[in-house]
Amino acid sequence: MGAGDGFRAPAAVISAGLLSVLGLSWFWSLLALLGVYLCSGGWRFLYVAACTIKRDLVGLCILLRVKFFMHHYIRTRSTVPSIFAQRVALHPDKAALVEESTGEVWSFSELDRRSNTVAQWAVAQGWRSGDVVAVFMESRPLMVVLWLGLAKVGVEPALINFNLRRDSLMHCMGVSGARGMVFGAELLDAVLEVKESLSSLSLFCTGSSPAESLDSLSAQNLDDLLASSPDTPPAVTHSKGFNDRLFYIYTSGTTGLPKAAIIVHSRYYRIAAFGYYSFGLGPDDVVYCCLPLYHSAGNIVGVGQCMLHGLTVVIRRKFSASRFWDDCVKYNCTVVQYIGEICRYLLSQPVRPSESRHQVRVAMGNGLRPNVWEDFMKRFNIKRIGEFYGATECNCSLANMDNKVGACGFNSVILPSVYPIRLLRADEDSMELIRDSRGLCVPCKPGEPGIIVGRINPHDPLRRFDGYANQEATNKKISHNVFKQGDSAYVSGDLMVMDELGYVYFRDRGGDTFRWRGENVSTTEVEGILSALLNQTDVAVYGVSVPGVEGKAGMAAIVDVTNDFNCETFLRDVQNALPSYARPVFLRLSPEVDKTGDRNRVMLSFPPYFLCFPQTHTVNNYPKFNGKNAMTNKCFTCIGHC
Ligand SMILES: *[C@@H]1O[C@H](CO)[C@@H](O)[C@H](O)[C@H]1NC(C)=O
Ligand SMILES: *[C@@H]1O[C@H](CO)[C@@H](O)[C@H](O)[C@H]1NC(C)=O
Ligand SMILES: *[C@@H]1O[C@H](CO)[C@@H](O)[C@H](O)[C@H]1NC(C)=O
Ligand SMILES: *[C@@H]1O[C@H](CO)[C@@H](O)[C@H](O)[C@H]1NC(C)=O
Repeated sequence: MGAGDGFRAPAAVISAGLLSVLGLSWFWSLLALLGVYLCSGGWRFLYVAACTIKRDLVGLCILLRVKFFMHHYIRTRSTVPSIFAQRVALHPDKAALVEESTGEVWSFSELDRRSNTVAQWAVAQGWRSGDVVAVFMESRPLMVVLWLGLAKVGVEPALINFNLRRDSLMHCMGVSGARGMVFGAELLDAVLEVKESLSSLSLFCTGSSPAESLDSLSAQNLDDLLASSPDTPPAVTHSKGFNDRLFYIYTSGTTGLPKAAIIVHSRYYRIAAFGYYSFGLGPDDVVYCCLPLYHSAGNIVGVGQCMLHGLTVVIRRKFSASRFWDDCVKYNCTVVQYIGEICRYLLSQPVRPSESRHQVRVAMGNGLRPNVWEDFMKRFNIKRIGEFYGATECNCSLANMDNKVGACGFNSVILPSVYPIRLLRADEDSMELIRDSRGLCVPCKPGEPGIIVGRINPHDPLRRFDGYANQEATNKKISHNVFKQGDSAYVSGDLMVMDELGYVYFRDRGGDTFRWRGENVSTTEVEGILSALLNQTDVAVYGVSVPGVEGKAGMAAIVDVTNDFNCETFLRDVQNALPSYARPVFLRLSPEVDKTGDRNRVMLSFPPYFLCFPQTHTVNNYPKFNGKNAMTNKCFTCIGHC
């Protein structure tokens, strides 16, 4: 079923016209041609059209609505702070953000005033529109106040993952080009570890921390500075509009080290607005957000509903499976956010009364796998799952707007060109796009896995690709001559399958990252760090699937020619050097590592070890390679737990 089928019906009408010229009546000609059309396979198209027309129309309305607002905001040179100001004027006393850990409620006007103090302080620091300031703290309303305040004067916050330590932290600080850094006192140790590399920045700490630590960093206490800063709107104006930079989010994307993805105001709006309209949210909804605010899911899809649509958002510092439903009941939440792991952790919890007393009707997020999808809806009585797909940095987003089990979105089969997303055939090992004799890419048939790409149209804000702060990283994600000669497209690197009705299902993440505990782990980054710990020996890192667990567990294959690998030291070093999600779960020692070929196969002959395996898993859950159990019980040596 391709785009060609869509043209059969008009063609039939034209030929009916020709036949009627030959003397047959219109009615009989049309009937005859309808018969021919149906016999030639057209009935399938009619069937698909009948099944999907309602969904497509709903999708089209949402698309047009978001486009309309985007064009309006571009014309009026709006920004996220200016749209937020309209919300404040509308309902200054409504609860905007709730801090779960303290129960503190921040009204819209308070959020506005507090962010004014940040803006005034930033100006007093001499920061100007276009300067970058790093924000490194755990998720709480203050973080929102900080980026909002900085954005009010055009300063661009770089939101740093609070799990990062040492090398990866220094890398992110380095590529951000930040002039200053604000950190939470809870992360003081991490900052002290990389003290030397921060010496050229102005540092500010929020929260209580020992004065001598602050002195050794030459850091100032931000809370005092903000308390003495005026809460009136900043006098400084900046010339930023809807397509200018708002902040940076680090994504591991699918290639290499974390990259600073540029979030412009229009992208922030687009991501949040698609979530709002696609999943049927309304102004009275209360969103429960326990996802980290340094990622787009928490800060845009979640907090964006407060900024742009005036919803109340409850922010929890860290996800807790046992408190999840209690919190939802306590704060009358009607919308929750998830990643696949959260749903599974919740399902594995014992039954508690709050799980049926809550008023949650929508769960929105990504990574809910089909095998737990229905159990999740049934057990917790959730009416609607808003699964979506979309890389922070790309425009090829999809959303499941009609509760179809297992799908992360759809593209219209009737009019596929309305939304220029395609699945293209790719080599499943190298994840390279396959090209035909003319050098163009080959679209997938229904049921055929392929890489999802989005056509780039630099003039349409919906289809812009703002890229990464680093130009080279941007170029890696753009492919040319994709649909026709001379065009370009964003290549996501994610493997998807589309069914006959146009529903899209997630298959696998390509490139050199894998997903573990809701985070992308970059194999090249972990390889670099492990190799540095081991005096630059060769290391290969890859993800292996473990039955019953989302994502892939990290496997590190380490060259050990001389047999002097010291496991205890290594384990300790790894815990210091890597955030918990990036630490390899399995370890292989082998005389050599092939870093280019099919890594999994090359190293099968050497026994793997558990390096730090979560206690909840049994030895029976061993990884599979190429669909076969690659290891047997006797290969495992349990070294430690994590
Ligand atoms: C939740 O709703 C109940 C009943 O409508 C109300 O009494 C309570 O104050 C609400 N709680 C919060 C935190 O808004
Ligand atoms: C992981 O990578 C995917 C694909 O680029 C992206 O959509 C997603 O936002 C990333 N997630 C995190 C937590 O960085
Ligand atoms: C994705 O981003 C590119 C780059 O700007 C844009 O041209 C393209 O149209 C976008 N695709 C979609 C489906 O929005
Ligand atoms: C690291 O490797 C170099 C060269 O391979 C060797 O000379 C040096 O002794 C090694 N250092 C340690 C601490 O093993």
